[in-house]
Amino acid sequence: MNTSKPKLLVARAMFPEELFRLNAYFELELNPDDRIFSPEELCDRLQGKFGMICTSSAKISADLLSKLPELKIVSTIAVGYDNFDLQACTSHQVMATNAPDVLNETTADFAWALMMATARRVTEAEHFLRVGEWKKWGVDLFVGADIHGSRLGILGMGRIGQAIARRASGFGMEVIYHNRSQLSPAQESAAHHARYVDKETLLREADHLILALPYSPEAHHIIGEAELAKMKPSATLVNIARGGIVDDTALIRALREGKIAGAGLDVFENEPRLHPDFLGLKNVVLTPHIASASERTRRAMVNRAIKNVIAAVRGEVPPDLLNRDILGH
Ligand code: DGY
Repeated sequence: MNTSKPKLLVARAMFPEELFRLNAYFELELNPDDRIFSPEELCDRLQGKFGMICTSSAKISADLLSKLPELKIVSTIAVGYDNFDLQACTSHQVMATNAPDVLNETTADFAWALMMATARRVTEAEHFLRVGEWKKWGVDLFVGADIHGSRLGILGMGRIGQAIARRASGFGMEVIYHNRSQLSPAQESAAHHARYVDKETLLREADHLILALPYSPEAHHIIGEAELAKMKPSATLVNIARGGIVDDTALIRALREGKIAGAGLDVFENEPRLHPDFLGLKNVVLTPHIASASERTRRAMVNRAIKNVIAAVRGEVPPDLLNRDILGH
């Protein structure tokens, strides 16, 4: 009788004390040095594995899956799963899971942090102070835009978008949004009475625009030169969603030419290698993809992924199964 446990790859370093309970079910292969595996190395390491816990850095393609006949589950700790080819997962009988919900509030907090830092020029002003340029108080020193009483625009009104909208109540803001589909009246009312508008109106009327939509081929460069040109010159743009939703080159041009006032960016095209011209701009707040990075939330994301692989190895349906069509097979 074969009593060996199924094998699981944990592709990135993450809270060993949370991973501990996986030992009851799996023989674990960890990556304590947190190296990013090349596609070839990932393929080698996944040979003979039942599953993998990963992040958005692991690309799961049809080609990779065709070389991994024993793989049963890929479980990301992220809510975004644009690194998974879901169709290929289904055709190779591999379950794909993500980690929704647990990061909504923390990510919404951070969207606000970026919006406020951008509108009130916090990092630019701090840099000015740190390099010793502050010589006197000035009536127009780092004047920015108000948050309170302004109009918040949200593109992508899923769970994170709605959590962002709810926070607007304390600031007396009006909320407008655009989404693939309009929310129900009850959802709109819970999201600080958010008003559904078309994309054009959203771009033209928002004082502060936050992007909270998932990446998909349709969302690629959904904010480009034409869209930025429609925004108010006083507006700010925040992206806590995914790189590639914004055309970074067009954004850099718009920021340089004063087409919009500023941008707060947590995600970038081709991250972590961001467009070098961002670094020369004063009217940007730049952070390294940390919107969900509170300790409690990151642990909750890891635990959500753990729950999914444990359900799979027990022969249960993982709670966050994305390719539910696999169940029919
Ligand atoms: C997510 O959960 O999608 C965050 O962006 C972290 O990758």
